[in-house]
Amino acid sequence: MALKERDEFSGQMTTGHEWNGIKELNTPVPRLLWFFLISMVLFGLVWTLLMPSWPGVSGYFRGLLGSDQHEAVRQSMVEAETERSVWTARLVDEDFDSLAGDDAIMTVVRQTGPMLFGDNCAGCHGVEAKGNLGYPNIAEAPMMWGDDADTIAETIRVGINAVHPETRYAQMLAFGRDQMLSGADINLLVDYLEDLGGRGTMSADDREIAASLFADNCASCHGDDAMGMTDTGAPNLTDAFWTHGGDRSSIRRSIYNGRQVTMPSWEGRLSEAQIRLLTLYVMDMRTATP
Ligand code: HEC
Ligand code: HEC
Repeated sequence: MALKERDEFSGQMTTGHEWNGIKELNTPVPRLLWFFLISMVLFGLVWTLLMPSWPGVSGYFRGLLGSDQHEAVRQSMVEAETERSVWTARLVDEDFDSLAGDDAIMTVVRQTGPMLFGDNCAGCHGVEAKGNLGYPNIAEAPMMWGDDADTIAETIRVGINAVHPETRYAQMLAFGRDQMLSGADINLLVDYLEDLGGRGTMSADDREIAASLFADNCASCHGDDAMGMTDTGAPNLTDAFWTHGGDRSSIRRSIYNGRQVTMPSWEGRLSEAQIRLLTLYVMDMRTATP
């Protein structure tokens, strides 16, 4: 152990420790560092006195300034909630006609609708609700179950072929696979549907045979004029909208194999107000599309 001595190069004292001739300088912590350290500690102490800070047994020290961000957040949430519950209650209580005619409500619908539809419906029906293969266009096509608001709301509530005790039920039968019609009959019916859609070139004789095949097998669900029936949820077969494809082979497949698809029921997953809001949103899209 060597003695403390003054280092001749730096002018500082050594600590007196020495290892094989290497001596340890006793360099003090710079003053500036002390200054910052002490002012930080003081600032911290003052801050915890002013602001909500130290935990206690039954709560926490609320601070001399009494500022409370929890309370501020809670208050703004309460305000948003009361504002919402005003139109939530209106959506549930008022009938669709008066809601659709109310600018304030429709502004809420147009602001909230895209998000609600995007989260829950767009995956199947598309962002613009114009459908995908297997999922109908609900922005433009005639509604299979009817296009008044109450019917649409009911469809959303109970679904189609869904797990809900009151679900709507719809099935296109497999006329070919289940051998109710021959391949030749089905081809005639495909021609007939193209003809009804204004695209066909059928002879008058074939047309007559096909019309009676249609009357016997299809009209009970799709209607005598093939324009669809809201009682059965069977679509209009004379227009340009096809859920399962409107080319010959898709139409043939629909008739041969049948079709049965599911629209989920939303009761329990969406609130009544949300279902009614989506109904207004869908109605609004339908009137907006020429
Ligand atoms: C899992 C896919 C899927 C989702 C998600 C879905 N739908 Fe559907 N929806 C369908 C299918 C499939 C049909 C057609 C059922 C049929 O043809 O029998 C349908 C039919 C409908 C119909 C009736 C159309 C008519 O012609 O009468 C409405 C209205 C509708 N959906 C609205 C919605 C709304 C609103 C949402 C969101 C809350 C939604 N759908 C979410 C698959 C879906
Ligand atoms: C029991 C009722 C029922 C009968 C009978 C029926 N259909 Fe359908 N049909 C439906 C329903 C419901 C759909 C809609 C199914 C869906 O979208 O999932 C449908 C869908 C179709 C489609 C597909 C439409 C599309 O948008 O893609 C075609 C094509 C079709 N039917 C033709 C016929 C023809 C032709 C007959 C007679 C041979 C017939 N249907 C008899 C109920 C019926």
